[in-house]
Amino acid sequence: MANYLITGGAGFIGGNFCHYMVNTYPEDRFVCLDALTYAGNLETLEPIKDKPNFRFVHANICDREAVFSLFEEEKFDYVVNFAAESHVDRSIENPRIFLETNILGTQTLMDACRKFGIKRYHQVSTDEVYGDLPLDRPDLFFTEETPIRTSSPYSASKASADLLVLAYHRTFSLPITISRCSNNYGPYQFPEKLIPLVIKRAVAEEPIPVYGNGANVRDWLHVYDHCTAIDLILRKGKDGEIYNIGGHNERNNLEVVGRILKELHKPESLITFVRDRAGHDLRYAMDPTKIMKELGWQPKYTFETGIGPTIEWNLTHSDWLSHILSGEYLRFMDANYKR
Ligand code: NAD
Ligand code: DAU
Repeated sequence: MANYLITGGAGFIGGNFCHYMVNTYPEDRFVCLDALTYAGNLETLEPIKDKPNFRFVHANICDREAVFSLFEEEKFDYVVNFAAESHVDRSIENPRIFLETNILGTQTLMDACRKFGIKRYHQVSTDEVYGDLPLDRPDLFFTEETPIRTSSPYSASKASADLLVLAYHRTFSLPITISRCSNNYGPYQFPEKLIPLVIKRAVAEEPIPVYGNGANVRDWLHVYDHCTAIDLILRKGKDGEIYNIGGHNERNNLEVVGRILKELHKPESLITFVRDRAGHDLRYAMDPTKIMKELGWQPKYTFETGIGPTIEWNLTHSDWLSHILSGEYLRFMDANYKR
């Protein structure tokens, strides 16, 4: 029996990972630690909250005392760190909390790993640490060797954390792995991110804000495939290694918005071009050859097979959505789109 700590498990990807692991490995134990920020929602964990191999702990990864005492009590084998401030637009509005959670929180977790011992610390990182690619060079992709070149306070904080994780490996021999994934979509995604935001607004027949000219490209991966990739890295990945995760599903933002409108039988006239995001990355595109060849990972979904069920999920979970649309959500949406 292995004991896992999953941080940020009340959020979008961490929540999906908790569901996946708790159901796939009933003989193992999973402790989810989450600070329940605006992006964390206990309702996401409702389907697994009473499983005997699951425990939820409300705490902040920057709280050294709480983290150390949980490590002492639980004696974890594996730590998977999803906890982060994750929205680029919020990092432009207020960078500070991104540095605290994403960098210092990572340090606190790794210090606990050093003190109490673990088999593996896994850092969930992002393709955004590589910066962006030009739109007119479709032959270029991010590999694990692509230099770090960040654009936003969010990506700078994630890259800083990655460097710290590699330093703890080199200096203290901490057994670590890092995964860098492309844009995720799927169930339980907070509707500040493009896909759930577009679905929500299209259903309500509200204007859909497209930044700049809508030509920016993202490489979309269903969250289920991100979960299976991390599981594989934990089991088969090599200490000290970085693995890129992506499924070659590049779409520009207008294509994504157009596809959702079509599925929902809503008019393209809802599309509203708004002021561009500051420092807006042009194109992300992952080369996942390493994880495919070395670990045998294959995604289950393409964008075409994943987007329909995602729209359906959002349509059938209006309760989940309405409960998270709190005062904080409304304040941010108002400030961001008024700019
Ligand atoms: P999210 O914003 O939906 O969830 C983040 C979770 O972390 C929330 O439950 C929140 O309450 C929790 N959290 C925030 N600060 C915390 C703190 N100080 N202590 C404990 N918990 C805290 O984010 P997400 O989209 O699920 O992303 C999860 C991870 O995956 C992040 O590290 C992100 O950088 C990375 N990532 C995301 C994507 C994507 O497309 N969303 C792609 C690649 C990598
Ligand atoms: O690539 C991985 C990253 O993907 C993760 O590390 C981040 O945590 C995650 O938030 C995501 O970052 P993006 O900035 O790419 O995702 P977002 O959904 O915010 O935006 C996707 C694209 O859509 C981007 O080009 C900006 C654009 N956009 C976004 C919003 C919210 C719009 O045009 N209008 C919008 O209202």
